[in-house]
Amino acid sequence: MVNIYEKLYQFSSYVPPIDLSFHQYLLLEEEAVLVHTGSMQQAEALIPQLKEVLNGKTLKYIFVSHFESDECGGLSLILKHFPEAKPICSEVTARQLMGFGIANDIIVKKPGEKLNANGYELEFINYPSEMHLWEGLLLMENKCGVFFSSDLVFRFGKSAGTVIEGSWQEEVNSITPLQVPDVEQREKLQQVLGQFNPKFIATGHGPCVKL
Ligand SMILES: [Fe+2]
Ligand SMILES: [Fe+2]
Repeated sequence: MVNIYEKLYQFSSYVPPIDLSFHQYLLLEEEAVLVHTGSMQQAEALIPQLKEVLNGKTLKYIFVSHFESDECGGLSLILKHFPEAKPICSEVTARQLMGFGIANDIIVKKPGEKLNANGYELEFINYPSEMHLWEGLLLMENKCGVFFSSDLVFRFGKSAGTVIEGSWQEEVNSITPLQVPDVEQREKLQQVLGQFNPKFIATGHGPCVKL
């Protein structure tokens, strides 16, 4: 676990056969926010580290970008340890989480909506995410200027605790059909993202990017 940027902590694991790192994040405020749970196995490793970093603070929210094992596979386990935490996700993801009996008490957010809390402001962005371009969400934290890119800004390799320098416009321009295969939806997303000006990208995979 690494304090990767201001009040942001990163938890990571590396999977050699696919040469890919998986990151989860904790925004450490009085009402802390977890971004992604990791898979069930990753969540098992995450929980003791989370408890250590939280050090008595409340885990208030769990942001789930979309319904996939590394983004929410460990959600039921995390909720067992932090029953007061509320998942935040899109309507489609909420249906999936409820349909599989993973979570019931869910905060559904629409693109463009915000959530204000003590010390931070979360803003939600539409994410046509794999595998059927299901409506997922991306997350921007407006006070520290952190963009949580989920699978959108994506690099292979070992990247725990790693930060590279980059430019926002370049990262937005480099979103490929691999991330969003539909041309129209990809261009729309790039246009929406171009209106933001974050200072830091907290990636789901690959090094973080300081802008
Ligand atoms: Fe994903
Ligand atoms: Fe992912």
